[in-house]
Amino acid sequence: MMGQVEKVRKPTGVNNMSNIRLAETLAAWIILALSTAAAPSNNLDCLTCHAELADETLVMRHVAAEEAVTCTKCHGESVAHVTDGTGAVEPDLPFGRNEVEALCGECHGGHEDVEAVEAFRREWRGKRRGTGTVIGEDAVCTDCHGEHRSVESGDGSWTPLFNGMDLAGWRSEGKALWRVEKGLLVGGQGEGNAPGDLFTEGSFDDFELIVTFKVIWPANTGVWFRYQDAGTAYQADVLEYKNPVCWTGSLYCPGKMFLSKNENESLVKKDGWNIFRIRAVGNHITISLNGTQVSDVHDDSTDHGRIGFQVHPGAQFGDMQVRVREVLIRPLTP
Ligand code: HEC
Ligand code: HEC
Ligand code: HEC
Ligand code: HEC
Repeated sequence: MMGQVEKVRKPTGVNNMSNIRLAETLAAWIILALSTAAAPSNNLDCLTCHAELADETLVMRHVAAEEAVTCTKCHGESVAHVTDGTGAVEPDLPFGRNEVEALCGECHGGHEDVEAVEAFRREWRGKRRGTGTVIGEDAVCTDCHGEHRSVESGDGSWTPLFNGMDLAGWRSEGKALWRVEKGLLVGGQGEGNAPGDLFTEGSFDDFELIVTFKVIWPANTGVWFRYQDAGTAYQADVLEYKNPVCWTGSLYCPGKMFLSKNENESLVKKDGWNIFRIRAVGNHITISLNGTQVSDVHDDSTDHGRIGFQVHPGAQFGDMQVRVREVLIRPLTP
């Protein structure tokens, strides 16, 4: 069996890739099927909840290796995560985009077939693949290999507002600093704790928005939407507030303070990736944080405007960073 995998593993060029993939997929499945008795149970444990990853190429190639590289080999045994089951407790080793190369590099060296990779890069440069990734100069391993990453970007109804490469389509206001680093949009204060915002050039009225982000605390940031000016806007807030006590996912409205408060701190992944899902349809606004709805209000303050990120003033937030991995939007009709 391994002989067959060896044979199809030698890529000769990009044109052969789909055949190679198909053959590999079949071979991997046969190995998987034949070795079920000896299959590492820790993969099966994970697949009870992550069933959609069962036929994902990265998972299959690795589990088919002579010494299987299982979910737990990369993500850790993750007993607390498995037991909890809601996703509120992270696995032992979740990976942000900027940690991917180091992980893969533990076992893999450089590419053997450099020309095949360059041909692939030329073919896909700047284009969006079916897996939802855009191949830029700074592509990480999982952009090209597998569909094993992040939220629902594979669904064609979503449009990315951040291309993972540069700030095209965005405009900075104020003195905060915004940059793109390893595919992430990163924001922090400017000289002398200067605050600022980064806005889309376009305006949106009724929509659903997904933002995947991670924060270096202490911080006060957030996702603006329906922003017309500093007094007419909403913000899905990212903060730890004392008075009134509330956390990330609270809905802020200039002049009205919090229209709703997330009082459940445990929903926030303080050191990990968080997912906001913001819906604005007519005067009905909802926010969910990591799958749990935290805001649900009716309000008429603003019905359209830009989407953006905020960096708050204040010396206590001098080292804050907001790192954004994905910003996906789809229009909705009221
Ligand atoms: C009982 C259900 C359940 C089991 C079993 C389970 N998970 Fe999860 N896992 C979830 C939920 C729910 C989430 C959050 C939603 C999501 O990202 O799919 C999650 C998220 C994750 C994430 C993304 C975390 C992040 O912050 O990026 C990883 C990685 C992960 N699981 C790995 C594993 C591994 C490895 C195993 C097996 C050791 C496992 N899971 C078993 C339910 C489960
Ligand atoms: C070879 C190492 C490796 C193996 C094996 C592996 N993962 Fe991952 N996993 C990663 C990396 C790296 C990321 C982050 C990729 C990115 O965001 O670009 C990730 C991301 C995830 C995520 C979050 C993104 C998503 O797809 O929802 C989940 C959930 C996850 N893994 C679950 C699993 C499960 C379950 C298994 C086993 C069936 C598994 N992983 C096997 C390395 C691995
Ligand atoms: C614990 C070690 C380990 C880690 C970590 C690891 N791999 Fe692997 N990988 C392997 C092994 C072993 C194989 C099977 C090689 C073989 O059978 O010759 C493999 C196979 C592959 C293959 C198929 C190779 C081929 O010739 O078709 C790809 C692609 C791959 N890995 C990518 C990745 C990526 C991307 C990551 C990071 C997300 C990663 N690997 C992390 C050990 C690892
Ligand atoms: C720009 C896209 C791209 C990136 C980024 C990328 N690869 Fe690849 N990789 C390819 C292509 C194309 C091939 C050859 C065709 C195939 O096997 O799918 C390949 C082949 C491989 C192979 C098998 C054959 C070989 O040349 O060794 C492994 C293992 C692998 N990649 C691992 C990795 C790891 C680990 C990373 C991150 C450090 C990575 N790749 C980053 C596109 C990419």
